[in-house]
Amino acid sequence: MHVSAETDVGDRRHSAGRAEDMDTIELLPPAATFRESYCSLISEVIAAGEALIPFVLEFEHDDFGAFLRRLEDCARGIALPRGFVAHSTYWLVCERTTVVGVSNIRHSLTDSLRRDGGNIGYGIRPSARRRGFGTTILQKSLSRAAQLGLTSVLVTCAKENIGSAKAIVRNGGVLESEDYLPARGEIVQRYWIRNDSRAEVQQGIQP
Ligand SMILES: CC(C)(COP(=O)(O)OP(=O)(O)OC[C@H]1O[C@@H](n2cnc3c(N)ncnc32)[C@H](O)[C@@H]1OP(=O)(O)O)[C@@H](O)C(=O)NCCC(=O)NCCS
Repeated sequence: MHVSAETDVGDRRHSAGRAEDMDTIELLPPAATFRESYCSLISEVIAAGEALIPFVLEFEHDDFGAFLRRLEDCARGIALPRGFVAHSTYWLVCERTTVVGVSNIRHSLTDSLRRDGGNIGYGIRPSARRRGFGTTILQKSLSRAAQLGLTSVLVTCAKENIGSAKAIVRNGGVLESEDYLPARGEIVQRYWIRNDSRAEVQQGIQP
């Protein structure tokens, strides 16, 4: 299926598209090729009045080259704010043109991330939701996490976030705990996903 660079996944040509119907759907490192589509994703989230999730969506990107270098630095653990661990960002790209989602993988856990945030955060552009992309982005992020050597992965979500909780459970998430976080004003759930079989495949070892 060919999709022009200007095509938004939310337009009519894609309105019925589901993740499994796509010819190609890849979790790729950020690249200048996808600038226009990435910017439209941000515009969509802002227009919907939603929080920018994962947090790297907040990064200033008018100077796109500088933005990409910043993300690379974050993955290498360079110039991180105090308390931050190295984190890698990937974009879920459909048909090699449309950025439908963004994932951010934290390479290790702090006390704060253990409470809220976990190893992987992700978001799907509003017009592409409920078509399997949330489940897909987490699945592909787990493979990327395995490349980083993460054999077990913590994913957290608000208890009310049914879509995220379903995506986590479909990817093998097991609920560890949940509690009310006053700073968020909601109950946060913590799920662990065993990732050792993916990690073994990455190392060429059959599970
Ligand atoms: C959470 C999020 C990533 C889910 O993405 P998605 O593309 O809709 O996920 P999927 O299509 O894979 O949906 C998984 C399941 O959840 C269901 N679902 C998704 N959103 C839902 C909602 N708002 N209410 C109820 N069920 C929902 C889907 O229908 C599907 O279940 P089904 O196959 O039984 O119908 C997306 O809503 C999002 O980006 N939200 C904002 C950012 C965010 O909350 N990120 C997660 C932080 S933990």
